[in-house]
Formats: sequence, structure tokens, C-alpha cells
Amino acid sequence: MNVIMLGLPGAGKGTQAKIIVEHLRIPHISTGDLFRKAAQDHTPLGLTAKVYMDKGELVPDEITIGLATDRLAEQDCAAGFLLDGFPRSLNQAQALRSELAASGRTIDHVVYVQVDERLLFERLTGRRVCCDCGAAYHIAYRPTAAEGRCDVCGGDVVQRDDDRPETVAERLRINGELTEQLAKYYAEADVLRVVDGSGDIADVTEHVLNLFTAS
Ligand code: AP5
Ligand code: ZN
Repeated sequence: MNVIMLGLPGAGKGTQAKIIVEHLRIPHISTGDLFRKAAQDHTPLGLTAKVYMDKGELVPDEITIGLATDRLAEQDCAAGFLLDGFPRSLNQAQALRSELAASGRTIDHVVYVQVDERLLFERLTGRRVCCDCGAAYHIAYRPTAAEGRCDVCGGDVVQRDDDRPETVAERLRINGELTEQLAKYYAEADVLRVVDGSGDIADVTEHVLNLFTAS
């Protein structure tokens, strides 16, 4: 199954993606995670991407499209994949469609996780992430058992550089219109599935998994 998770920053794409790929046994491809890993490793691509990410801006298409399509060409994506954070613009969606068509593939489901903007702001500014394994926490909704320590691997749990309030506002502004354009594009292709992402994490997962069995 080939799936895209669509939604504004903080909608819960990453949280749900990590759970859903376990059920579907497909790889989770997050362009944000790939950029953060590259930045942590100080590669030229990572250092360039970080300049844009820290401002809440999109990394240019010439970098992003190549990164995503190279990953999709890998063998483990042949039987299915879940994209999280890509595509993020019509240009990226069109590039993705051509790239998949070249290998006889299409997108089966685009899961659009919708959450009210006020809640998104609270989720993002309250998010904390593990530096070692990437697990996501929230100071109110999903706290770590031990202060500042990851429940999964014991690594340091910190705030993402782009989760400061001023950068969050910019990310929501930039992504708002783009996300709506993508929802329209995929609705026209008849693959858009809308999910209310404001419930608790387990409820949202259940709704998403039900979509796959219903269609
Ligand atoms: P990326 O890492 O993709 O960030 P994003 O899209 O801004 O999305 P987030 O990770 O912030 O949100 P999410 O929806 O995954 O929420 P999460 O599950 O963590 O991208 C970062 C940057 O990389 C971009 O700004 C850009 O610069 C660059 N980039 C990436 N892809 C790109 C592309 N295609 N083109 C160009 N540039 C690109 O949840 C958020 C918080 O809420 C967590 O604390 C979580 O615990 C909590 N939470 C989640 N669900 C619930 C729930 N149901 N109830 C209560 N709390 C919840
Ligand atoms: Zn960890």
C-alpha cells in the first residue's frame, strides 16, 4: 500500500505514521526526519536544509524532490511506503506522480489529518523529541516518565529548534495554503481520506486504520 500523510505541522502525521507503518509493515519516509539526520551528521545537504528549517521555511524543491525520490527508488519501498511531510506543494506532488508512474506505481491513500490551528500551536510548542531515536513527546499530552529522558532509549529529550513560538507561527502560515492545494489535488484524484486529528492518539490511529479496510 502506498500512503501519504497530509496535514499541517503538529497535526500528528509523524506520531500516527510511526504506529501505522508497524501495522502495515511498510517503510516510514519522513523528509523532515531525513533532513534532521543529515543536519545532525553535518552533511552539506543537512547544513543547507537546516538554514531553511530553522526559519520555518520550506527546503527548496531541487533538494527535497531528489531526496524523497531517491529514497522511494530503494528496494524496500517496492511493496509499499508511507510518506510523511512529502509532498508539501503541488510541484512536489507532480514530481512524485511522474516518478512513481515511471515504475508503474500510484498513490492509494492520502490521509489528511485535520486539527484546529489553536491546538496545533499548543502541540508544537509543547512537543519534545528524543535526540537519539526521534521519539516524540508532549509536555502535557505525552510526558516522558523521567524528566528529560526518553522512555524508549534513555536519550536526551529536547525541544526542536523550529518549535519555538515565532517559528511555529511561520510554519503554520507557509503550510496553510499549500496543504489546502494538495488536498484539492488529491481529492480530484479520488484518493483523499479526511480524518479528524483532534482526538487522542489511539482514537486517531483507529480512524486511520479503519479507512484502509473500508476502501
Ligand atoms: P517536518 O519534520 O515534516 O515537520 P512538520 O510538517 O512541520 O510536521 P511536524 O513534525 O511538526 O508535525 P507532525 O504532524 O508530524 O506532528 P507530531 O506527530 O510530531 O518538517 C520540518 C521542516 O523540514 C519543515 O519546516 C521544512 O523546513 C523541512 N521539510 C520537510 N519536508 C519538506 C518538504 N517536503 N518540502 C520542503 N521542506 C520540507 O505531533 C506534534 C506534537 O503533538 C507531539 O508532541 C505529539 O506528541 C503531539 N500529538 C500528536 N498527536 C496527538 C494527539 N492526537 N493528541 C495529543 N497530542 C498529540
Ligand atoms: Zn529515544
